[in-house]
Amino acid sequence: MTGPVVLGIETSCDETAAAVVSAEGGVLSSVVSSQVDVHAVYGGVVPELAGRAHLELLNPVIDLALTRAGSRGATRSGSGFTKTKSPVDAVAATIGPGLIGALLVGLSEAKALSLAWGVPFAGVNHLEGHLFATLIDHREIDWPLAVLLVSGGHTMLVSMEGPGRYRLLGETVDDAAGEAFDKVARFLGLGYPGGPAIERIARGGDPTRLALPRAMLEEGLDMSFSGLKTAVVRSVKRSPEISNEDVAASFQQAVVDVLVTKTLRAAERVHARGVCLAGGVAANGPLRRALAEAAAGLGLGVFLPSREMCTDNAAMVAAAGAWQLEHIGPTPLDIGADPGLRLTLIDLPG
Ligand code: KG4
Ligand code: ZN
Repeated sequence: MTGPVVLGIETSCDETAAAVVSAEGGVLSSVVSSQVDVHAVYGGVVPELAGRAHLELLNPVIDLALTRAGSRGATRSGSGFTKTKSPVDAVAATIGPGLIGALLVGLSEAKALSLAWGVPFAGVNHLEGHLFATLIDHREIDWPLAVLLVSGGHTMLVSMEGPGRYRLLGETVDDAAGEAFDKVARFLGLGYPGGPAIERIARGGDPTRLALPRAMLEEGLDMSFSGLKTAVVRSVKRSPEISNEDVAASFQQAVVDVLVTKTLRAAERVHARGVCLAGGVAANGPLRRALAEAAAGLGLGVFLPSREMCTDNAAMVAAAGAWQLEHIGPTPLDIGADPGLRLTLIDLPG
């Protein structure tokens, strides 16, 4: 195995994740332990419980990631470190944005491992991690890419000119697209997380059954989803006979129409060579198909990370950390977690 090997740790929300990535060899292991069962009964993520679950799950998840990667032997025992030799060349962890109590668990662990193993540490922006997910599966990319980053907390269009080079083109002015999926799912009694549940039942529904708004569709690159959620609620109250399948399919179609239109517009605006999806909502099948089809029709490259790399995982954090260590250098160990961390952008000319 060649190239530095990086252990990534991700605990910004409700997935406890660790992964081992080789800068040259790709993903050696990626373990994601979902806390869905912990939070489902409350209909959403409970920050206190997320932090506590990360504390319990993180060490076993890291051990499993190291074991699966066969990382030069060393693992840890319950009583501490069994070997002084480091199993990896560096440790990376998400420092924000996310839930403060959740972030601190992964960040503290990463700092401790960096010190104990005597290897550098990279503090990774979760949003940048999502942008790196596509680089894991696609090594040859013609820049720039128009990237739609759609997750539970963020919905933004970014012109990616290469690793570390991002320009913000547009974003939601209210709810994130994933938040809209989660809220509509909760309203329909489908539970948490909402996106996969909506996608599942929408397969049996008619996407034209409900006439729903496509806000801000005609121009610009900003988006709005809170009106759509309200329109769904109003329509269902007015016509309770409409099936959940039809409601879910109509809602999903409205979101997909907006996201695809805006992404293609963004690609045109920056003369992108291709389009790319990132973030949890990018796991959505109809969105992936609609964007891929429309972009290919325009002669644009289509870069879709695998579904596992779209939702929160630590391989994307390790990949971003490996790049950072090589091009920027290690992060000082006194860095804190930042729940509101923004993506670092390059200035627009003029
Ligand atoms: O990126 P992510 O795992 O966590 C955040 O950083 O927020 O994204 C989670 C979001 C949730 O809102 C979830 O409902 C949505 O991604 N999601 C989906 C699908 N899978 C996850 N939305 C639509 N369709 C899916 N298949
Ligand atoms: Zn995320």
